Formats: sequence, structure tokens, C-alpha cells
Amino acid sequence: MQPPPERTAPDAENAPPTGPGPERTLGQGAAGESAPGSTPPAEGSSVPGPRTGTAGAGRVTLRSDLRASWPDGLVALAITAALSALIWARINSRASSTATVMPFMADDPEAFLLYFLSQAFGWSALLWAWITVVLGLLLSGPRPARLPLSGPRLERLHRTTSLNTIGLIAAHALLFAAELFRHDDAGAWYGAAWTAFVETFVPGGYDSGTGRIAIPVGQAALYLAIPLGLLFYIRHRIGPKTWRVLHRFVLVVYVLSVWHTLLYGTNVWYDGWFRTSVWLLQLPIAALFLARLLSPARRSERLPALAAVPGGGKPLWTARAAGRAAAAAVLVALVAILVTGRDGGREEPPADTTSTHNHD
Ligand code: HEM
Repeated sequence: MQPPPERTAPDAENAPPTGPGPERTLGQGAAGESAPGSTPPAEGSSVPGPRTGTAGAGRVTLRSDLRASWPDGLVALAITAALSALIWARINSRASSTATVMPFMADDPEAFLLYFLSQAFGWSALLWAWITVVLGLLLSGPRPARLPLSGPRLERLHRTTSLNTIGLIAAHALLFAAELFRHDDAGAWYGAAWTAFVETFVPGGYDSGTGRIAIPVGQAALYLAIPLGLLFYIRHRIGPKTWRVLHRFVLVVYVLSVWHTLLYGTNVWYDGWFRTSVWLLQLPIAALFLARLLSPARRSERLPALAAVPGGGKPLWTARAAGRAAAAAVLVALVAILVTGRDGGREEPPADTTSTHNHD
């Protein structure tokens, strides 16, 4: 996860801004260096028992869940508004590392308002993805006895936070596209709109710096989150077993989201407590995931003693045991990353480069 150097840092005046997007504007010669939308296991994903959704009443449909989504959607919007204010204040005071990576944004913050809004939606999307993954793992793994939410409520919250995660990611990407559109004055509006669409939503369309990897990673998270999250609503057509198997891949969506963030977020560009906190938040996910594998809610997913497995079933047993060992290894690796601080962050350049001319 150590990104290659390329974004510009303090002496970006050498690099005339051509539009938003970390490297797009950077990368020419100077200092610096240079991931869902998880829709995790939808309600009761792997939990046995009836699924009535709205805490007991009626069949769950996409429409009923969309209606039920507004309370946590409003909370997400309120958090996004607070994050926007924070990002705005930090840009204006130049405390944000976005201002170090892209100084031209701090020189004229009003011109990049949509970009800062996009950042705020990115963070609320990641937070909602985190919440919904935690809820999903609580549903499919061991559940603390003292949890204040009943099973059906937990399931419903899991589904609505999943839906809101998709909406928040979409808002994050659309605001980025809007910023690209706004800064493209090279030709006709429809040409600018097309370019913004391609750079934002078409894999390979964004061809500058770290974005060449980070943007497709984010797109993969978004494009996987949509079907994996929504398949729940047609599970009666595809079969609950198929749905359950497919839905497990939402964890991939989450991993892609975190990877995209750590690779491309300019607020976590450099080493520091903020970047460390993002890593720290992955510890409970890794621990819950391991607990879910070791003690799944569904009896059929438990790993029997090897002696009780008939000869033909041994390769499958070995694969499942290896999965559990890999999950434990991820947990250990996370602890090692946190303890050593080797988390792929770039080294922050000196605040005043004029005297040192150190732009490496
Ligand atoms: C079409 C898909 C996506 C596009 C085009 C996209 C675009 C971007 C861009 C351009 C940045 C750099 C902003 C900066 O300067 O910090 C960024 C950062 C970020 N993205 Fe995405 N992204 C996508 C998907 C996602 C997903 C799926 C998530 C998480 C659920 C996410 C969460 C974030 C976060 C948290 C940041 C860090 C913002 C900051 O540093 O303040 N993005 N994204």
C-alpha cells in the first residue's frame, strides 16, 4: 500500500493548476510524493430465522427500506455538513494536508468548494460503510448479549445504512465530477461534461498520477456495492443461498474503499494521527470478522473437528481453516502496522522549502 511518489508539494507554483484532482494539478516536478461503499451483509445476511424486516411487520422491499432509510440518512447528512465545515476551516487555516499537497486550493478555496464537499461525502461514506459492515458482522457472527438493539432492528439498520452508504459514495463521486466540469474551460460545455463523466466513472478515464490506480479502486467499490447491496431485494428470485454467497463479497467492497482512501485522500496523505486513526478503525472490523468465522451464527458454517470430517471433505475443511488463519494473520498485521507506524503514509515535507530547496 505504499504509493509511489508523485503528487506535488509545497512548490506547486511550478505546476500550473489545470483542474481539481490531486495529481492532475500536481506531480510536475516538485516535492511530495506522490479506497463499500460497502454494503455489507444485508440484514440477517447469514443469520438464520425469519426475515420480516421492519421489526416484524410485512415483507421487506427496496421501497420499504428506502422509506426507512431517512433517519440514518439525515444523521449522515448532518455529519457530512459538520465535516464540510471542518474541512473548510482547516483549508482556510492551511492546517489541512490538502493545502500542502495542493496549495492552489488553499489560495482560492471558494473555487474548490465542490471538491471539499466531495471530500466530506467521502468521509461520511467511509464511516457509513464501517458502521454497516460492523452491523453485518454482528448479525452473522457472535452478538454481545448486552446489545441494546433487537435482532430485527439491527437487521433493518444494517440494510438502511447499506443503502445510505451507496448514496453517500455516489454523492462523493458526483461532486468530484461536478468540480472537474466546473474547472474545464477548454471547450463546449458538453465536451467538459463528457470528460468529467469519463474521468470520474470510467475505469482508466482518469490518467494522472496515483489517480490511475486510486480512482478505479474507488469505482470498483462503487460498482460492486450497488449489485451486492441490492441483490438482497431479489433474493427470492436468485435463491437465498446464492444471495448469501454473493453478499459475502461486500467485504471486498469495504477493503477497496479503505484502500482508495489511504491511497488517495489528501487529508491522510502524510504520516500522522489522522492516517493512523483510519488504520485503527480497521481493528474492530478485523476482530469481528475473525469472531464471525470462528463462531458463525449459522450452525452449518461452523468448522467441525477434523476427525469428524469424512475423507472427501478434508480439502474443503483445510480451505476453511486456512481462511480463519488468514483472518487471524490480518489482525496481527494490523496490530504490527499500528505499532510500527509503517502504514504507507508519505513523509510530510518541511513547512518552509524556500531555504532548503528540499523538494524530494
Ligand atoms: C467512482 C468512485 C470514486 C471516485 C471517482 C472518487 C474520487 C476521489 C478523489 C478524487 C479523492 C481525492 C480527494 C482528496 O484530495 O482528498 C478521493 C478521496 C476519498 N475518497 Fe473517493 N472516490 C470514489 C469512491 C470512493 C468510495 C467507494 C469511498 C468510500 C466508501 C471513497 C471515500 C473517499 C475518502 C474517505 C477520501 C479521502 C478524502 C480526504 O482526504 O479528505 N471514495 N476520492
